[in-house]
Amino acid sequence: MSKVIGTAVSRQDGRAKVTGTATYAAEHQIPGLVHGYLVTATIANGRIKSIDTSAAQKAPGVIAVFTHKNAPPMFKPTNNFMTSKIYEARLPLSDDKVHYGGQIIGLVVADTWERSRHAAHLVKVEYETQKPLLDPNNATFKEAISMFGESFVLEKGQFATGDFTTAMADAAAKIEVTYTTSTELHAPMEPHAIIAHWQGQEAVTIYEPSQWVINTQRTYAELFGIPAEKVRVVTPFLGGAFGCKAFPWPHGVLCAAAARQIQRPLKVVLSRRQMTANTGHRSETEQRLSLVAKGDGMLSAIAHEAKSYTSPVDVFAEPCTGITPVMYGAPNLRLNQEIAVMNIGTPTFMRAPGENPGLWAIESAMDELAWALQLDPVELRLKNEAKAHQKTGLPFSAKHFADCLKVGAEQFGWQDRKMQVRSLTRDGKLIGWGMAGATFPGYRGKTSVKVRLLPDGKVHVLTAGNDMGTGAYTVVAVTAAEALGVPVENVRVEMGDSLLPDGGIAGGSQMTASLAPAVMQACQDVLKAANCTTGSDACAALRQSGRAAFEATASSAPGAEGKKWAFQSWGSHFCEVAVDEEIGRLRVTRWVSVMDIGRVMNAKTAASQVRGGVIMGIGQALMEECHFDPNLGNPVVYDLATYHFPAHADIPRIEVAFVGEPDLNFNPVGARGVGEIGITGVAAAVANAVYHATGKRLRSLPLTPDKLIG
Ligand code: MOS
Repeated sequence: MSKVIGTAVSRQDGRAKVTGTATYAAEHQIPGLVHGYLVTATIANGRIKSIDTSAAQKAPGVIAVFTHKNAPPMFKPTNNFMTSKIYEARLPLSDDKVHYGGQIIGLVVADTWERSRHAAHLVKVEYETQKPLLDPNNATFKEAISMFGESFVLEKGQFATGDFTTAMADAAAKIEVTYTTSTELHAPMEPHAIIAHWQGQEAVTIYEPSQWVINTQRTYAELFGIPAEKVRVVTPFLGGAFGCKAFPWPHGVLCAAAARQIQRPLKVVLSRRQMTANTGHRSETEQRLSLVAKGDGMLSAIAHEAKSYTSPVDVFAEPCTGITPVMYGAPNLRLNQEIAVMNIGTPTFMRAPGENPGLWAIESAMDELAWALQLDPVELRLKNEAKAHQKTGLPFSAKHFADCLKVGAEQFGWQDRKMQVRSLTRDGKLIGWGMAGATFPGYRGKTSVKVRLLPDGKVHVLTAGNDMGTGAYTVVAVTAAEALGVPVENVRVEMGDSLLPDGGIAGGSQMTASLAPAVMQACQDVLKAANCTTGSDACAALRQSGRAAFEATASSAPGAEGKKWAFQSWGSHFCEVAVDEEIGRLRVTRWVSVMDIGRVMNAKTAASQVRGGVIMGIGQALMEECHFDPNLGNPVVYDLATYHFPAHADIPRIEVAFVGEPDLNFNPVGARGVGEIGITGVAAAVANAVYHATGKRLRSLPLTPDKLIG
């Protein structure tokens, strides 16, 4: 029946993006615009003893200088994930304290960007400095608590079933090991930026990259004590987000507050250096994994303990153990998630928060167990896949993990792999094959969509939901084209403006799953209004009626299905690496990913999402790390040159295939979304291949050359 859904449709916004006509936040042209440059702390712990702004104030073109001594007014929002959330609970410039290196301590506003930057460097600060806590080995870890209010808990504290000690005593094979990951930076192509344009004191338009314009609208409204209708948030395009652009960061809060005070449209763009400290990152993690198996390869116990850090000014615990009850089944399960406060900026969501580092540990440990048991790692996973969610007891809906493993093995040629390390060589290099599983939950939220059918056969779809570069514009168009039976080229989609119907969050890989059912429903309502069954008949009826349009607004939301089913997407990665031990060079030379994401809405953009995830995962596996100066506390990487990530030459051809079936228990279109799953399991697949190639078991990311030499 499907004519458009599931085919390969090119991005609707592709041309605008490659020709430079897509307008990003900092590019909006506002008459009378002035520029702000942030002043940031050069210590990581202590207080500001004195701050002298006199030279800055006298510098050419300077309009205003804000510090904690004259902070513009702002109120604390409720800071609850679902209603109004800022990434950092402490409001900017709220006191003289410095909690982390690079923290915002001032804002200089001038008539040009260059003059604001020059004047910002004239601000003189004296500090009372304390030694910053930057080393997790010196930190105090405590049970992780709920984040963002009671309505949203990623993962906290402890969980246990069964009798772990007995299982340990009765084991044929045991793996008890520690895996670590490094602090990773978001580094999206589009830097964080905002323009705040007030109309008087009571209404504001915000141009800012936002994954969730409606929540951002409510948050700014609460920050300034005005009704949400008086805040308009405009984000037609985002240049990469991955979790770091869902809520306002302190620079956005400060820019909007300052703009209100000076009554001028104000723009603040962060430098790459400022972004390393002030716009979130993935915390480093340490995970202790214990796997216990019987002689037949069946798991009898899994213990997973995870540690990450947060800042002194908000809580974000990297929820590594969230995925453990989902992946593999064991009668004895023990989870523990701990967190420590350190003098580093607040970590945040980053593509598959929790699932990604969690699976790095689990999928590495499963490989270690397979070698210990002398079992094929694919076989070990097939034996042990979880039958139900082990925390809720709910069965999985439309689960095809086994197909991901089997099809991936088949496409890769896994049956030719010898289970022997250092057994393959090519051109003087050691070759290794590795694999890992992948998973990500199926999330879905409440959304509304308006559809308008016009007399010329064109269709407009309008929603405040965002396309953060994933292809949401195109998926919305594809869904409407299918529902109305019109060519996809006839559908024009408008997104990313809080004036439009609430489209929910582009996060948790849920935009497609949230929006598509509402698009479908609105299209059906349009046909009903026209009393027709197809778009072309409706169009003819419209012309006859003499009216301008048939339109309908529909909403869709999750219902009771979440009480019956656990919704989860699945995948497998198979890869080949080539290792030159003499110089420690590691290249990924071949990649196959097979995903079960329910219904595939757009074969082209879905495969691109998986490829993007794999590339980001290869970056995590081989290159990405951020260290902090042990004395000053600032990140020692500060731009896209010092923070290493893959270029085209580092990435092989990535084959992507999909298996499974539409997950109709989940939503009426059966699509579970595909944004994040691609990155999960990638680093483990690489490290497992490195073990096969070299016999070296590397448990610390990234796998840099020093770890491979000799
Ligand atoms: Mo994603 S980390 O849910 O934006």
